[in-house]
Amino acid sequence: MNAIELLLTRQSDAKLVAPGPSEEQLAVIKQAALRVPDHGGIAPWQFIIVEGDARHKLGEIFQQSAIAEQQAEKMIERTKDHPLRAPMIIIAIAKYQAHPKVPHIEQVQSAGCSLFAMQQAAFAQGLGGIWRTGFFAQSSAVKKALKLDEVDEIVGYLYLGTPAVECKKPTRHKVDDYFSYL
Ligand SMILES: Cc1cc2nc3c(=O)[nH]c(=O)nc-3n(C[C@H](O)[C@H](O)[C@H](O)COP(=O)(O)O)c2cc1C
Repeated sequence: MNAIELLLTRQSDAKLVAPGPSEEQLAVIKQAALRVPDHGGIAPWQFIIVEGDARHKLGEIFQQSAIAEQQAEKMIERTKDHPLRAPMIIIAIAKYQAHPKVPHIEQVQSAGCSLFAMQQAAFAQGLGGIWRTGFFAQSSAVKKALKLDEVDEIVGYLYLGTPAVECKKPTRHKVDDYFSYL
């Protein structure tokens, strides 16, 4: 797949099954995460890979956090199984570093680019993925359980695997609705 085809056809897949990324595919995904714009060259990133039984551990963290932060009963019930929706999850974190020229938002943007680069690298290798957030990206209890600081940002959970269904998504938006000239 060439780069333009990747950019114009990339899509998310919510239904993901095994196999997850192979060792070789994961190596490419990891490198893509680090090849993103980074103001000041400060590399404000941290990535946590969750696969196999560790997904149950993450489910436990989600559930305990939902209880601690008094989420709705439904959320508390379901949340334990959320990480089982894919064979692998990569948690992408903006690991904030105080810097005179690089504000918090720019570090978060850079980590967001990393997450997206990983999704693209997965897609280009025939895998599927989806960027998810929800309550668990904002939760202080989740941050604490992952040994993050409050000022760090979980920019998202990248669920990765093999698409369970092949359904190509058409382009939804019209270019002229979003672009204009000054
Ligand atoms: C920051 C961010 C957070 C998102 N969080 C979720 C989420 O929690 N759950 C979800 O189903 N989709 C979420 N999405 C949307 C999906 O990642 C995806 O973009 C959407 O399903 C559209 O599919 P497409 O990428 O094929 O156009 C999020 C997207 C972004 C950019």
